[in-house]
Amino acid sequence: MDEDGAQCHGADLGPSGPHGNIAPLAPGASHVQPRGLKLQESAMSRDHHPAPDFDEIIDRRGTNCSKWDMMERVYGVSPDEGLAMWVADMDFRPPACVQAAVENMAAHGIYGYAASDAAQRAAIGWWMDRRHGWRPAADDIFTTHGLVNATGLCVDAWTDPGDGIVLFTPVYHAFARVIRSAGREVVECPLAFDHGRYVPDFDAWDAMMTGREKMMILCSPQNPGGRVWSRAELEGWAAFARRHDLILVSDEIHCDLTMPGLTHTAMTRIDGVADRLVMLTATTKTFNIAGAHIGNVIISDPALKARFASRMSALGLSPNSFGLAMATAAMSPEGVDWLEALRLYLDGNRRLFEDGVAQIPGVKPMPLESTYLEWVDFSGTGMTREEVLARIEGDAKIAVNHGTSFGLGGESFQRFNIATPRARVAEAVSRLQAAFSDLQ
Ligand SMILES: Cc1ncc(COP(=O)(O)O)c(C=O)c1O
Repeated sequence: MDEDGAQCHGADLGPSGPHGNIAPLAPGASHVQPRGLKLQESAMSRDHHPAPDFDEIIDRRGTNCSKWDMMERVYGVSPDEGLAMWVADMDFRPPACVQAAVENMAAHGIYGYAASDAAQRAAIGWWMDRRHGWRPAADDIFTTHGLVNATGLCVDAWTDPGDGIVLFTPVYHAFARVIRSAGREVVECPLAFDHGRYVPDFDAWDAMMTGREKMMILCSPQNPGGRVWSRAELEGWAAFARRHDLILVSDEIHCDLTMPGLTHTAMTRIDGVADRLVMLTATTKTFNIAGAHIGNVIISDPALKARFASRMSALGLSPNSFGLAMATAAMSPEGVDWLEALRLYLDGNRRLFEDGVAQIPGVKPMPLESTYLEWVDFSGTGMTREEVLARIEGDAKIAVNHGTSFGLGGESFQRFNIATPRARVAEAVSRLQAAFSDLQ
């Protein structure tokens, strides 16, 4: 089971892509409320941006939720006694403005085709400007059915069967799955280490290139290592793409989830790469709305843009109206307040988890700079992978993502999702300490 679910099917809106004909609305204002609709009482009373309660334990069992309802089948760990720390979604409610957007649509009760994604594109411009210091042109934004879908579209648009696509491993496992399913070759370039953190190794990678590579996919910030790449490192990747004439796909889905004090640099702010850059962003990780299956592809180069638009059109892709409403509502001042509270909460979880598991001899968490996914190295225990997993899944009853699924370099690691109420993180730490207590 992967972190991403089934892909949705888009409705036929006529011309697809980023050429909606409705004037953008002011972000954070009335764009969540279609004209003629009345907000429900519950939605209207949320003007004051209530503080989120991330400590609340919400039972997700029995809701067709992959993280909790699939763990028994995948890991043999019952959700009644186990802890789901695998699939990359959060056990938290999104901001109230997102809930209001859904309630608003439900109150209207007609679920026909959406008119345009213009309001969402305006909100993206506002969000990126405010959070990341650059503003994409509305016409440069395409709305896809999420970023796994967007990755597949990029592979389809700019490579042919048999071409090489470069990944910097270990990295988000769906990249390799999409590439291989499309009959392209995954070229795995292993990340190097510096002081226990991943760093690029351009000299080694230059030597691996054969000339058959057409594209590279960078995960920035990095899943599963959590790195927030520095400007110098991103410049290095831009130069690597130029040297080997690669389309540079930059998946920045985790860009909002940096730890307090750390700043993500968007690839669009790196010079000399716009003519080969395809940037992927989304609201789904930031606001925990992954089931909405909505994501953005941002391209400024006219030729690349035309090619992508034609593939979108050929495949009949257009956005899901619930996804549009939820994402547009989230990118608002209320969403900003919620996100700031979330980042502080995740930082608290990070400290608790990293301090706790680092007390187990031979177990080393990579310092988390972004995401809510702790990448933990068990090589120092001297145990086989099977023994480590028997203790984590069998004894501690914790479902985790196996390091091997992230490609070369992931073999001795396991990935733990800490976006869950703190009491559960504390419980996971004490279960892990008990499961490895003979090492103390
Ligand atoms: C780097 C990265 N890209 C994409 C996705 C999934 O994106 P989507 O749900 O929009 O398909 C994930 C999910 O964990 C991810 O970590």
